[in-house]
Amino acid sequence: MTTHLVNEFARDVRAGLNKKGQKELPSKYLYDEVGSALFEAICALPEYGLTRADERLVRCHAGELAERMASPVTVAELGSGNGRKTRLILEELSRRQPILYHPIDVSAAALRRCQTEMEHLDSVRVVGLQHSYLPGLREAVAGRPPDTHLLVLFLGSTIGNFERPAAQEFIREVRGTLRPGDGFLLSTDLEKSAQQLILAYDDPLGVTAAFNLNLLARINRELDADFKLSQFQHLARYHARERRIEMHLRSTIEQTITIGKADLTVPLRREETIWTESSHKFNPQEVIQLGERGGFRCEAQWMDEEWPFALTLFIAQ
Ligand code: TRP
Repeated sequence: MTTHLVNEFARDVRAGLNKKGQKELPSKYLYDEVGSALFEAICALPEYGLTRADERLVRCHAGELAERMASPVTVAELGSGNGRKTRLILEELSRRQPILYHPIDVSAAALRRCQTEMEHLDSVRVVGLQHSYLPGLREAVAGRPPDTHLLVLFLGSTIGNFERPAAQEFIREVRGTLRPGDGFLLSTDLEKSAQQLILAYDDPLGVTAAFNLNLLARINRELDADFKLSQFQHLARYHARERRIEMHLRSTIEQTITIGKADLTVPLRREETIWTESSHKFNPQEVIQLGERGGFRCEAQWMDEEWPFALTLFIAQ
């Protein structure tokens, strides 16, 4: 990482671990080289049905999506992922006309992988934007011809990682960058039993535990810290009132951590946790409401039967 990014990482770690009350670490740092590989492995786990449900829905409905969406010529995607689901959509859309596709991601490696995935699609031109979501989206819409339509993709139920009010605000901001008639395709994981959710976020093989613990290993590697991984446990718990899974790292003993590059020592009590991520679950009606309150109308909503999951197509009003 560049010095600038290391400093930003150090600053965020410092702010999160200095919090009074619940300590936290921002989830975006889970996805370094090792973390991204572990997340790919999570997506292949039988217990983690999200990614497969999302892909099934995209596979089944990409044709209908292309019919319902007034010929978009530009597609922008928030978070480029590995591009597998998006390819199915671009294949359909590019039957009618050439498509300009902007994957938006802070990770250069993710953008490169996505570029490779789309390489064989002749009528798709890929221009990656290395930005966070909204600045990237603003760049994607700047200077587009007036009579063209844009389709924004936000897959993988990443919206669930926002606190609920922030999710609503985010959708409003996405709408703010768009023009009437533009599309917004949103994936959301739906409510299911606590037992099923706990298994999805704390699998028996320990891949999710490794993924979460890697955040501490990454801080050791990049910020000269001395976390002993054997003194922490991955913890996934379902918060029924908030309807979300919360991921934490729990200190199994009383200990003090030193983080050289953040110029920080952190005391941790036995059983104290560091919160790393929340994954909110939705019901189908509330997803529609989120879009409507954000300034969209719902054009179609498709649901997976095997793993409750929704794919909703909104059109900007
Ligand atoms: N954002 C994904 C989700 O909510 C990522 C994820 C899966 C995750 N398992 C995790 C994040 C465990 C932190 C810890 O499903």
